[in-house]
Amino acid sequence: MNLKGRNFLKLLDYTPEEITYLIDLAEDLKNKKKQGISHDSLKGKNIVLIFEKTSTRTRCSFEVAAHDLGMHVTYLDPSASQIGKKESIADTARVLGRMFDGIEYRGYGQEIVEELAQCAGIPVWNGLTNEFHPTQMLADMLTIREHKGRLAGLKFVYMGDARYNMGNSLMVTCAKLGMRFVACTSPKYFPDEKLVDECRTIAAQTGASILLTEDVETAVKDADVIYTDVWVSMGEPGEIWEERLRDLMPYQVNESVMTRAREDAIFMHCLPAFHDLKTGIGRSVYEKFGYKELEVTDKVFESAQSVVFDEAENRMHTIKAVMLATLG
Ligand code: CP
Ligand code: NVA
Repeated sequence: MNLKGRNFLKLLDYTPEEITYLIDLAEDLKNKKKQGISHDSLKGKNIVLIFEKTSTRTRCSFEVAAHDLGMHVTYLDPSASQIGKKESIADTARVLGRMFDGIEYRGYGQEIVEELAQCAGIPVWNGLTNEFHPTQMLADMLTIREHKGRLAGLKFVYMGDARYNMGNSLMVTCAKLGMRFVACTSPKYFPDEKLVDECRTIAAQTGASILLTEDVETAVKDADVIYTDVWVSMGEPGEIWEERLRDLMPYQVNESVMTRAREDAIFMHCLPAFHDLKTGIGRSVYEKFGYKELEVTDKVFESAQSVVFDEAENRMHTIKAVMLATLG
């Protein structure tokens, strides 16, 4: 498998075999790291991380992974560069392409990261856009495989805001890898129809299936994985909280949901999560609307079924695999 020079912008651009190869590579790199085996084969290369939105996991994963591979990292925070304000994406891409070996971009529209990739002449990795979060997908699939031993045929249920980056990306990934994807939410939050059609075409070839339903009972019955994400994403206006709480509270992942899934079902969340009052936003939502827990209850988040911190760790191993495969 040769992925050298490729961009990593969305999983629609990758075949099931290529995705599986990246998950396998991540598993191998994870084992090497645990055993203390050095793997700095990208020594001397330089990468730049552009973050137009904030991050904990993605930024730290890129930095630690780059250092483990022997690379140097430059970090551009949401306000520290000329991007978009004084310099176009195309010009920025051509400048960075002359200095670096790879570019990570987190920001708004998918078209921005696509344009960056078109103009840079070096691999560009999508660290999250409004539409897709592909590096998160590899970590999620590695985590599921570690806990379930397989991916194809598993029933994967996504609850909550399924029309944004996480819902879209998980639907694509499940379609590619032969899984039974269910989006369980109010129809207003179903993924984009065009993308659903595209995923159904992919599913027809891989043995996957795609179901969109508002019925929690149908959705979670026999589920192997229950997944959720925040109800208001980065870049969305704060005023939207009231509407989201009203629309999505019926799709909160709580004990009743977990009880109706398979006994050995796992709970997943890309994080950060609102499961208690220990965050600024969590507290302000509580003060305004009275809810102590949002997309997931604290009990489920802290339960033995929750694998969210395995998932977070795997961000690093999988991002390392993407960089090694595309730069190596
Ligand atoms: N899951 C995820 O992308 O986390 P960060 O926003 O902290 O990078
Ligand atoms: N949907 C979330 C994902 C965070 C990793 C957001 O875009 O804020």
